[in-house]
Amino acid sequence: MACSSVISAVTRRLEGKVALITGGASGIGECTAKTFVNHGAKVIIADVQDDLAHSVVESIGPANCTFIHCDVTDEDQIKNAVEKAIATYGKLDIMFNNAGIADENKARIIDNTKHDFERVLSVNVTGVFLGIKHASQPMIQARTGSIISTASVSSYIGGAASHAYACSKHAINGLTKNAAVELGQFGIRVNCLSPYALATPLAKQFVGLDDEGLENVMNSLANLKGVTLKAQDVANAALYLASDEAKYISGHNLLIDGGFSIVNPSFTNMFKYPEEEP
Ligand SMILES: NC(=O)c1ccc[n+]([C@@H]2O[C@H](COP(=O)([O-])OP(=O)(O)OC[C@H]3O[C@@H](n4cnc5c(N)ncnc54)[C@H](O)[C@@H]3O)[C@@H](O)[C@H]2O)c1
Repeated sequence: MACSSVISAVTRRLEGKVALITGGASGIGECTAKTFVNHGAKVIIADVQDDLAHSVVESIGPANCTFIHCDVTDEDQIKNAVEKAIATYGKLDIMFNNAGIADENKARIIDNTKHDFERVLSVNVTGVFLGIKHASQPMIQARTGSIISTASVSSYIGGAASHAYACSKHAINGLTKNAAVELGQFGIRVNCLSPYALATPLAKQFVGLDDEGLENVMNSLANLKGVTLKAQDVANAALYLASDEAKYISGHNLLIDGGFSIVNPSFTNMFKYPEEEP
């Protein structure tokens, strides 16, 4: 996966910070782990894909990055991951609740099973709830911290994913707002990110396409033309929310969608340029 951020010493925006990233073995989480380390952070990757996570740690460099096996639906494992961050690096400044899954793409609600629905909610919502709950404890003691969760454009609009997935991502937005209200008194900021679709294992499996196929479809549906959403774009947004540059941003759902979710395609003809006027 293309993921590069060229950094000079003066632009390292997370110098001295410690971040825990769930779902850090792949896709957005992997790219964010690399970006955070490039910006001076120490990172703990928490994931269920042990072999993949170990290879990510190797590629980043074990001096700045560690892995802990963690299923985000298991409260003890989340608690353990937070404790490992503190035992290894002395504190926790940034919690990135990024782990997520999608269910099978079934058009009709009657074909969706209760088991699949609850499985998606368990990872995407309960996992985020547990991440916020346990990361907030040391942050409350420290009277500072940044908690970020990965939602989706499906936190904002309907019809872009399955019922379970849309439900789960709307819930992350609600949880973000509620936690931001509670934790603001301790100087802790709580935000979420809402990307449009990008080529990661999760999205490719959901639509049944490879990188190029998915990007072609998504670019044809996108509002913003001439660019393709990449994991690095989401990592850059996480970097902003994690850094002190966002010190007064809390309770926010940051859409990374090139305007996709604000436009009703029925009205786009209104702004169509005549052919001869590009
Ligand atoms: N790719 C997209 O189009 C897209 C768009 C919007 C939002 N998102 C969200 O971005 C986040 C990251 O997904 P991605 O696209 O990078 O996919 P990905 O499949 O590359 O990464 C997801 C990671 O989460 C891990 N994970 C899954 N279940 C877990 C569990 N129970 N405990 C711990 N880790 C677990 C996986 O092992 C994997 O490493 C997800 O929350 C997803 O819903 C993705």
